[in-house]
Amino acid sequence: MRIEIYHASKYGNGAMVAEELRKLLDERGNEVSVSHIKDVSPKALSPADLYIFGSPGRIGKPIGGMRRFLSKVNLPAGTRYALFSTEAAPRPDKNGRMPTEEEIAKWQRIQPLMDEALQAKGLEKTAALKVYVTDLKGPLEESWRKKVEQLAGSLAAD
Ligand SMILES: Cc1cc2nc3c(=O)[nH]c(=O)nc-3n(C[C@H](O)[C@H](O)[C@H](O)COP(=O)(O)O)c2cc1C
Repeated sequence: MRIEIYHASKYGNGAMVAEELRKLLDERGNEVSVSHIKDVSPKALSPADLYIFGSPGRIGKPIGGMRRFLSKVNLPAGTRYALFSTEAAPRPDKNGRMPTEEEIAKWQRIQPLMDEALQAKGLEKTAALKVYVTDLKGPLEESWRKKVEQLAGSLAAD
């Protein structure tokens, strides 16, 4: 299938995820292209069977450029999409206690806000991946390639 990957990487971590995904999906016989959203008009996206949107987190939300991009995306209802986000790895508080999934979800609204923008247009989600960076500007967590492989596997099997 034809797959378009649009990402908004600022420090290069998300760009690495996008490129790895491109390589793996290409190896599985898909026709894949990767673009940074700054090079693309959201109202004139290339035709594809699947769109993958990737964003870094900013204060609990997708980075501003991606929020604006998604609000302008112009694709027919029923179009399939997948997401990935790069997010700061959860850290223990001063007592050494890790936040629970529920606590994290209260302020980390990166993927929920991406879903909200796309589902308001009738797009249909097929998969999503969260990859952590170990510090604010990177690097990616050690197991990032494995995670990307799992996403590629689930998309290729669709
Ligand atoms: C000002 C600032 C705010 C950030 N806020 C968040 C945040 O709220 N949640 C989060 O998970 N990551 C946050 N991050 C870390 C980003 O997730 C990280 O920079 C990004 O994933 C790196 O991806 P990139 O290299 O593709 O830009 C923040 C980073 C910066 C510089």
